[in-house]
Amino acid sequence: MSVGEASGGGRTPHPVCAAAELPPGRRRIVTIEGKSIGVFNVGGRYFALRNRCPHRGAPLCEGQVVDLVTAPAPYAWENERFGEIIRCPWHSWEFDLTTGRSVCHPDSIRTKSYPAGVAAPTEHDRAEAYEAAERGGVVVVWV
Ligand code: FES
Repeated sequence: MSVGEASGGGRTPHPVCAAAELPPGRRRIVTIEGKSIGVFNVGGRYFALRNRCPHRGAPLCEGQVVDLVTAPAPYAWENERFGEIIRCPWHSWEFDLTTGRSVCHPDSIRTKSYPAGVAAPTEHDRAEAYEAAERGGVVVVWV
């Protein structure tokens, strides 16, 4: 969610750090209400994920931040969505930093979309995500 759109959705805002301490491409892992949460600056937008992989519980937010790699043709690949994917440090499952959704199961996620209100994604398809934004020079996460 972009800086101007974050509202918290009824959750409680928690200041994380000064915006200057979290420049683009950096992350900060904090504990809020007993939960370890990774806060990421992706090109000036802030995102927050629970620091626990839904596969086997690894510290997901300590993983490598990578691009989305696609294969538009055999023996060809392209990098897209630069720095928007996090790779779990234990078994390399990849998650979309902007939504918490699994990169490997986008079709199953799409059929269970939130706007349609059909069903929530399964635990294995999604990492827990929170809203994050900059407010008055301070990075804030709503938990
Ligand atoms: S614990 Fe994250 S991929 Fe297995």
